[in-house]
Amino acid sequence: MTPSCAATCSKPPAKKPTTWPGRSSGSTPWAPGDHLAWTQQRLDALGARPSLLNPLWFAGAFALGLAAAKVSDRVSLGFVVETENQVAQHLQGHLARLPADDLASRAVVSRMKDDEERHAASARDAGAMALPAPARLMMKMAAKVMTTTAHYV
Ligand SMILES: [Fe+2]
Repeated sequence: MTPSCAATCSKPPAKKPTTWPGRSSGSTPWAPGDHLAWTQQRLDALGARPSLLNPLWFAGAFALGLAAAKVSDRVSLGFVVETENQVAQHLQGHLARLPADDLASRAVVSRMKDDEERHAASARDAGAMALPAPARLMMKMAAKVMTTTAHYV
């Protein structure tokens, strides 16, 4: 598969693609830029654009992650676990709504969901504490605001 394949492929990439943007070989560790690059590639292919609010969401996520890291490693890892779990659920919702024949988009979303689930497991294995229910609820509400507004703006 080539990076441009995502726009025209009739079949999904392998579960562990090695030629997506930001990945030079199969042994290269996952890089945060991969998901952004894959998403931008699909948006470009579909003639769409990312949300104009993205810089705001990135800044907010960075600030929340920084605040969690200041508390403790276990809290920071707990924040990662909850974030990854919520993102994976969100991506599952996309998989349920994406057209069955949009194999390129489905491959990207499916691979991202797998990655997020793996990140959550890694953070859990590294000693994450379970966040209290109110914190998880607040994160869900913030994510709902982000995903809802991103759809329109
Ligand atoms: Fe992740």
